[in-house]
Amino acid sequence: MTDRYAVIGNPVEHSLSPAIHAEFARVTGQDIDYGRILAPRDGFREAVLRFRSEGGKGLNVTLPFKHEAWHLARTRSGFALAAGAVNTLTFRGEDIVGDNTDGIGLVRDLTRNLRVPLRAKRVLLMGAGGASYGVVEPLLREQPQCLVVANRTVEKAIALVGHFEKLQQYAVEGIAARSYEALAGSRFDVLINATSAGLENAMPPVPPDVFAPGALAYDMVYAKPTPFMKFAQERGARVSDGLGMLVEQAAESFFIWRGVYPETRSAMAMLRRKMKVSSER
Ligand code: ATR
Repeated sequence: MTDRYAVIGNPVEHSLSPAIHAEFARVTGQDIDYGRILAPRDGFREAVLRFRSEGGKGLNVTLPFKHEAWHLARTRSGFALAAGAVNTLTFRGEDIVGDNTDGIGLVRDLTRNLRVPLRAKRVLLMGAGGASYGVVEPLLREQPQCLVVANRTVEKAIALVGHFEKLQQYAVEGIAARSYEALAGSRFDVLINATSAGLENAMPPVPPDVFAPGALAYDMVYAKPTPFMKFAQERGARVSDGLGMLVEQAAESFFIWRGVYPETRSAMAMLRRKMKVSSER
């Protein structure tokens, strides 16, 4: 029997996850069916349990339910523990296992696809919302020289840093919280925009001189170049959107569910083609 999976969120109609997982199933020869579930804002738990009772094997969780999914999981595994957010649910008998693959997806896109190792690099993470919480621990595991978290509301950056400073096993000298103004005079090798500013055609107010020579400016948003990407490019930085992160986090979820790691290049190429067609319309 074909195993069933889905992405659950609100809204969910534009999610690319069904197309990505269909491509993974094709390249690995796995027999799965992957759909979309639009859950009411106050009906996440019911929708998850219904899908499970109908024989569903696992779910990807997207906004705004990642925190609720963390609470719903009975076992939290890997990076989900510290992140406080879950993007992958797996139903194993009575157990509901929660994982977070967002940070692994980001790190794989940076280090393998873009070939930017993070070890001993100066890394700036912009934003202190759920997207940032999901990626901090996997970033620290790469042992950057420092990880500076900047946020418009600086108190939220301070709270995030306080939360992760407990993870001393990574022996990172400098995880620090800053306001954007306080970044003046500092330079970074890898700058990651985890704010939602790009969705409103805005950008975090970084000073213009934050890009070290050869820096990579990465925006987690995808579909079109964001103001941050344009700003960085004009200052000589290499830029990337977050499509690779999306595909790599999906690959890790697929691996958790199926025990098979799909190659991701064909899914990336398929999405780039899809997006080009929709932007030309
Ligand atoms: P998510 O879960 O996607 O991270 P969130 O928790 O709403 O969403 O967080 C959004 C992040 O984007 C926050 O860090 C927010 O900054 P504030 O905490 O100061 O609100 C940041 N953000 C959104 N719009 C922004 C903008 N125009 N400039 C700078 N930061 C912005």
